[in-house]
Amino acid sequence: MRITIVVASILLSVCATSTRKRHFDATILSLASNSTDESKSKLDLRVDRVSHGETVLNGIWEWQFDVDNTTMLETTFYSSDSGSENEYKKLPHGIPPISFEEFLDQHYNDIIYENFKNCSNLKAYKNKVETPWQKGTYTLNQCRPKGHGMPEILADGFYKIYIRLSADPEIHIVVVFKISNTFY
Ligand SMILES: *[C@@H]1O[C@H](CO)[C@@H](O)[C@H](O)[C@H]1NC(C)=O
Ligand SMILES: *[C@@H]1O[C@H](CO)[C@@H](O)[C@H](O)[C@H]1NC(C)=O
Ligand SMILES: *[C@@H]1O[C@H](CO)[C@@H](O)[C@H](O)[C@H]1NC(C)=O
Repeated sequence: MRITIVVASILLSVCATSTRKRHFDATILSLASNSTDESKSKLDLRVDRVSHGETVLNGIWEWQFDVDNTTMLETTFYSSDSGSENEYKKLPHGIPPISFEEFLDQHYNDIIYENFKNCSNLKAYKNKVETPWQKGTYTLNQCRPKGHGMPEILADGFYKIYIRLSADPEIHIVVVFKISNTFY
């Protein structure tokens, strides 16, 4: 099932790019987060409205715990045409539970660094030895993530990404955003 969807998306994206250019606007509507131990991880992230419905992400993440091979990460994607809470359906996109170290190796640069390099003190990841994940205070300042690392095709509508980092502390982040495509 998952493979069918991936193949269909590839075919769709090939068709779409061959006929017209896609411009994809993502507006972050809300972000909620919590942590089971604020002395180890304290998140204070917020969505601020700037102009014409545009939003930016601001805030800090005080990361005071060591990452080891028990630190796991998982993301789940949902969509809803109308944005109403009881209509969100799970999508095949998303990252199954993997260790945070695997996430750094496989996804961090494409998904996190590309979207936040201009507006944060996040660094590019090379490998565990040269660029180990550091404790510290990570800051986001007027971030407008462009959607790097997102699926190629996203229909107009509302999306929710649920991010879970575990085990100690356990951190939950829920981001809601809206996609509108324009073709020209
Ligand atoms: C995790 O790290 C510990 C200590 O470094 C090591 O003993 C253990 O084998 C590792 N486990 C896995 C699954 O890599
Ligand atoms: C980062 O800044 C450069 C130069 O100002 C700009 O060209 C680029 O689009 C920006 N990237 C992001 C992801 O905002
Ligand atoms: C943290 O957020 C998650 C996801 O929204 C939620 O399921 C959980 O109940 C929250 N935990 C606390 C302690 O607020």
